[in-house]
Formats: sequence, structure tokens, C-alpha cells
Amino acid sequence: MNDLRDLYQEVIFDHNRNPRNCYCMKGANRTAEGFNPLCGDRLTLYLKVEDGKIAEASFQGSGCAISTASASLMTEALKGKSLEEAERLFQAFHGRITRDTGGAAPVDLGKLEVLSGVSEFPTRVKCATLAWHTLNAALEDKGEPVTSE
Ligand code: FES
Repeated sequence: MNDLRDLYQEVIFDHNRNPRNCYCMKGANRTAEGFNPLCGDRLTLYLKVEDGKIAEASFQGSGCAISTASASLMTEALKGKSLEEAERLFQAFHGRITRDTGGAAPVDLGKLEVLSGVSEFPTRVKCATLAWHTLNAALEDKGEPVTSE
């Protein structure tokens, strides 16, 4: 168990030190702004949606290690997903991190499982879900900033 926890921590450290898909995307056709009111950190998410699928996903922002790693892992996981699949992934991830699945069956989150331990630290849940609330806003295409509340 400790080996697994160490491995998960190493993946989170790696994605914080060297975040994937961290750039301002030219030609994005969905963008959203996210804000964590607890710390003031902000994140911008960019999506390029083509034929109902996420062809490209990137982010920019200032945040802690957990929020940066979460955004990095999320943008990796989104590529090639349909908008419906992305919405289901948001629900599954949010349910796992907040421990509120609404009775839904557990979903294999793949590499995103490395963040599941955050659920033990309620003050860090909003860090891990900031990028995901921002994704939800981009999927709904409302154009209004969202918070991780
Ligand atoms: Fe600001 Fe984590 S402390 S997002």
C-alpha cells in the first residue's frame, strides 16, 4: 500500500514539476475560467472540439501542486473523448474526490486514480476539482467564470 501511495505521489510531483498541455491554445473553440475562492488561484481551460470530440485540451493558471497536477492529468485524459464521455468523466472524478457518487457504480479512472487520495483531505478537494469545475463550464459553454465551490 505504501508503495502504491509513493507511486501516486511521484506521479503528482511529476505533473506539477512538468505539467502537460500547459499553454494558451490558439484556435480554441471552448474556453472557461475557474477560480478557487479559498486561495484565490485561477485557471483557464482551452478546448478544441471537432466533430463532437475533444481534439486538444490545454490550461494555464497559477495554482498549488494538486491543482496543477489535476489540470495536467485531466487535459491528458480528455484528448479524443466525446463531449458526453468528458461529462461522464467529470461526474466520476468529482464523485470519487468528494466521496459522493450519488449511488453510481464505481468507475475506473485510470491514471486519474493517483488523485483519489485527495478525498482524505477536505481542504484540498477544491484544489483537485478546480480544473474539473472549469471543464464543466467549458462543456456547458456558458462563458461565465466558475468557482470550485
Ligand atoms: Fe489554490 Fe490549491 S491552494 S488551488
